[in-house]
Amino acid sequence: MTALSEQFGFQRELVLSSFRRQVRGVQEAYQEAEAMINRLVAWAKQRESAKQTKDALVLPQEWLLLRGPVGTGKTHLAMSIANACIDVGLVALFATVPDLLDYLRATYGPESDVTYDALFMQLRDAEVLVLDDLGTQRSSPWADEKVFQLINYRYNFGWPTVITINKKAWTYLDERIRSRLQDAGLVLAVDMDDAQDYRPRQGKNVRRRSSSAESAVSSEQ
Ligand SMILES: Nc1ncnc2c1ncn2[C@@H]1O[C@H](COP(=O)(O)OP(=O)(O)OP(=O)(O)O)[C@@H](O)[C@H]1O
Ligand SMILES: [Mg+2]
Repeated sequence: MTALSEQFGFQRELVLSSFRRQVRGVQEAYQEAEAMINRLVAWAKQRESAKQTKDALVLPQEWLLLRGPVGTGKTHLAMSIANACIDVGLVALFATVPDLLDYLRATYGPESDVTYDALFMQLRDAEVLVLDDLGTQRSSPWADEKVFQLINYRYNFGWPTVITINKKAWTYLDERIRSRLQDAGLVLAVDMDDAQDYRPRQGKNVRRRSSSAESAVSSEQ
């Protein structure tokens, strides 16, 4: 299962504890990601005990939408949720929407060893699904329809789903999808408007580390 997610760049080691929550504008997103993890982990444990009594437990209705500018940690948080779920035995899948569509298209081909239906159903029926970068796919009637089908199916059951979207992409989103994501009765939406791109900071950290390594080398010479 994780192998499928890895095709989309899923990193198994990305966890909530490596996310710096003190960074400006990310607190709410962090807290909601953490709360969702706690509820899903609790549910997984409940299911474990219910197995003995053979009670069937219905998946909790949990939708989280992280909407914000680039580099604000949306993917990091979304992967952290998937990882925490996998750790407790839930079937959690991660997919980046544009790559997913390429992948689905490829499964139409004669050389593909996965059938389109099987792949689509795996994603559709996953206990937890993370869809990263919604709305950045090149729009086409086919692509819009596939994404809509996937989201709509899970929406109808309320099955645990995490969606990340760039603020700009939100404006161009298929209105049928947008309407469902605006259902406040199901979807917890977090706007990360005040957060800033974290990537330049990462760069600084790396440079600082390598320049101190360089000076260590030069002082040894
Ligand atoms: N608060 C944070 N603490 C630690 N690392 C962070 C934080 N925010 C972002 N990062 C790191 O910065 C990089 C960019 O974050 P990420 O990919 O999650 O951003 P994003 O919001 O998904 O961006 P994009 O919209 O471009 O996809 C990642 O390596 C991530 O681990
Ligand atoms: Mg991202």
